[in-house]
Amino acid sequence: MIPVTKPFLPPQEEYEKYIAGIWTRKWLTNMGPLSSQLEMELKDHLQVPHLLFVSNGTVALQMAIKALDLKGEIITTPFSFVATTSCIVWESCQPIFVDIDQNSLNIDASKIEAAITEKTSAILATHVYGNPCDVAQIEKIAKKHNLKVVYDAAHAFGVEIDGKSIFEFGDISTCSLHATKLYHSVEGGLLISTDAELLKKLAYIRNFGFDGPENFAELGLNGKNSEFHAAMGLANLKYIKLIQEKRAILVKQYDEKLSTLKARRPIWHPQSENNNSYYPIVFEDEELLLKSINHLQSYGIFSRRYFYPSLASALPYIEAKSLEIADDIAKRVLCLPLYYDLTLEEVDLICRLLLRAQNN
Ligand SMILES: Cc1ncc(COP(=O)(O)O)c(C=O)c1O
Repeated sequence: MIPVTKPFLPPQEEYEKYIAGIWTRKWLTNMGPLSSQLEMELKDHLQVPHLLFVSNGTVALQMAIKALDLKGEIITTPFSFVATTSCIVWESCQPIFVDIDQNSLNIDASKIEAAITEKTSAILATHVYGNPCDVAQIEKIAKKHNLKVVYDAAHAFGVEIDGKSIFEFGDISTCSLHATKLYHSVEGGLLISTDAELLKKLAYIRNFGFDGPENFAELGLNGKNSEFHAAMGLANLKYIKLIQEKRAILVKQYDEKLSTLKARRPIWHPQSENNNSYYPIVFEDEELLLKSINHLQSYGIFSRRYFYPSLASALPYIEAKSLEIADDIAKRVLCLPLYYDLTLEEVDLICRLLLRAQNN
């Protein structure tokens, strides 16, 4: 069986070395020393001035919306994971979907202005598969209309634009460190902002709003993460370079072997390199996609329609809206298996089966 993803795990003894101290300290959660160490090491690795380690990428998004005091309408993408939209609704705001660009698969920045009303408070865009949005254009629009910008950078660990971390764009960026991600802490998330005051507010929010044992500075929630999760994050961080190198080799192999497949890859931001967090392909039509999924599955190989269907048409708590490009792409996009343990031979097999499905 070849799954679509498989979490990376560090050597067990390396993880155990990190957690041994927890038994001595009996400090299990609440911003313990391993969590602080992880934040320091990640700041260094990502070259960002401030960040917070939180419980997951979904809570990170909710905290971002709360910290920026967003109200009313939030312009967002229909082509993302459900959390991008559900967190907007959860925070009592209304998602306003703008169609995506068919090349990058990110929100089409040229269509944002037409969706702005007097109720719009922010733009919440996803760097889909780690491919940066048109951040320059989004920033220009946000400045002109006095809007906040939140980036759902769940897929974008380690991505840069011209050498600057993608996490530094917008008012706040969020990342997911879920087990299925390129880099993970089992469950986990990050909040990044270049605004130190905003990060301070987010730190209060992460810890119930506490400012000292008897004082409250903000309305908060429980967005903390544990020492065990931090230990996994620290152990995995030692392997991030190796993980990325291996993924790049696998992606190159896919690219070469699939050059005659009737499917295309998203077009990448010209000033950024792919972090290879996923291997998405867009088939010429849905029929070929379905045929390919079934053929792979008959050999025990699992791909994923990620993201399908479009969020604007799928959620029972939102009035359905059709968006031409997002609806069309969602029907034709497929993510192929990609993970550290995947072998080149397995990639070859997947490619052979896809080409056979196309030619039969
Ligand atoms: C684009 C996107 N946003 C948000 C999330 C939510 O992250 P988490 O699973 O850490 O809550 C995910 C997770 O898959 C995601 O892919």
